[in-house]
Amino acid sequence: MSLSLKESFAADPQRFEHFSQRIAIHTATGQHAIFCDLSKNLIDRKIEFTLIARAARAGLEAKRDAMFKGDAINSTEGRAVGHVRLRDLDSDGHCRDAEVRPVLNAFLAYAETIRTDEAITDIVNIGIGGSDLGPAFAVRALDQFVNHGRPAQPRRYHFVSNVDGHELNAVLRQIKPASTLFIIASKTFVTAETMLNATTARAWFAANGGTADGSSALDTSRHFCAVTTNTSAAKDFGIHTTFGFWDWVGGRYSIWSAIGLALAIAIGDKGFRAFLSGAHAMDKHFKTTPLAQNLPVRLGLLDVYYRNDLKFTSRNIAPYSSALGRLPAYLQQLEMESNGKSVDVSGKPLAMSTSPVVWGEAGTNGQHAFFQMLHQGTDVIPVEFVAVKTPTYQAGIGLPMDKASQATHHKALLANAIAQAQALMQGKADAGGHKNFVGNRPSTFILLDALTPETLGALIALYEHRVFVSGVLWGINSFDQFGVELGKVLAKDIEPRLASGDAGELDASTVGLILKVSLPNEFNIREI
Ligand code: F6P
Repeated sequence: MSLSLKESFAADPQRFEHFSQRIAIHTATGQHAIFCDLSKNLIDRKIEFTLIARAARAGLEAKRDAMFKGDAINSTEGRAVGHVRLRDLDSDGHCRDAEVRPVLNAFLAYAETIRTDEAITDIVNIGIGGSDLGPAFAVRALDQFVNHGRPAQPRRYHFVSNVDGHELNAVLRQIKPASTLFIIASKTFVTAETMLNATTARAWFAANGGTADGSSALDTSRHFCAVTTNTSAAKDFGIHTTFGFWDWVGGRYSIWSAIGLALAIAIGDKGFRAFLSGAHAMDKHFKTTPLAQNLPVRLGLLDVYYRNDLKFTSRNIAPYSSALGRLPAYLQQLEMESNGKSVDVSGKPLAMSTSPVVWGEAGTNGQHAFFQMLHQGTDVIPVEFVAVKTPTYQAGIGLPMDKASQATHHKALLANAIAQAQALMQGKADAGGHKNFVGNRPSTFILLDALTPETLGALIALYEHRVFVSGVLWGINSFDQFGVELGKVLAKDIEPRLASGDAGELDASTVGLILKVSLPNEFNIREI
């Protein structure tokens, strides 16, 4: 039997205050804040108390401390989990970690040289998963902070991830070798999609006058760089400008490392340090705040409660901000690759369900697509609104809209977010039949005071720690991802079969599909 939100508000006049909190993000650049309203969730003080006791029993604090201490908590891979080290900045924005500091300084200095290089108009990040989603999400999110100081031709940022050649083609069509910097981003530098896209980009560069031996200004040494833990493989590939990181940084936790280079070029040294500082402020909150007031803990426990006690199978992410449009995709990797597991840390099958399906789309667009189901469908799907109180607009880049119109748009956006949360909760019973809204549908409302490098860093760190919390409660290792391996191996086996048509010993369905797509002509390309 789930709780009635209307009755809970009526019974507890302090419910909003109790179930909402503001996290101050203190950084060298000033004060920022993230506010979170949990009051429209199907919990009360008693349930929260029970959940906190569950967290204590699971040893959450000791496990959190072990992560910050650098213990090898990624036990299946025998690695520490050190993304928090990457953003351990002091109040002047300098990195405290002696191993991280020189690399951070080096890639930020490089980013500055690219920013001042008037000849470079296009940045192309080639990477996938954590080597794509973080920079792609953050560059879009911080568009108003991106160096547009080139009114004639603002610099463009492209992200190529899919092995589908249409994606790379669509970018190559728009760029010129002399004005492009390719960033090959891959933790391992063996990921098949990235290697193929990088190889094709390198061939395109050579076919369009590029050299690889330093004999011209149009050389790979100037137009390609790599970010990877495997710097020797990048060198073998012919790339000389490389920025490293470490195996204790998981791919989906790597935006804080040199994988963030595209973002660093976009927002500069100062902006990137502000981004790290925002995340660091959230780390401090997670590390030092008692569980009952610890926002990542409260959110992670809610996730566990919804999944295991109320049996909800998914969670909708509704960023009411176009700039945060890639947040659902980013969180899909962060949450489902981390916690989509069915065995515990010791490899024993789990008796409970783990990661829900995380999905979503920016509002208000989602309202005109799937919100019908959220309001009237048979499943209860908690919704997570993420909104921005004050919109930021970069001065001096030419705003076609006047200020009054901008404010009007923003008010409409926020009104819709609040109205949807209200509608989900209160429903509309009087209409009956097809027009009936059952209501009592839960939602969380996260509000950034403004979308800045600092608050974006804090928001991402909030989600990282929340995933850690639910992972601990489920007793799983949130930091490996063996589930992605099998398909990679099978694809390697199938690819040559598409040319040879040799599908002999495989299962009938796979044979059928291989024969269906076997090459009808030498290139299997149709020109239209
Ligand atoms: O396939 C999953 C994965 O291993 C992710 O965890 C990772 O972010 C992505 O591939 C890309 O890997 P890499 O950065 O090594 O190319």
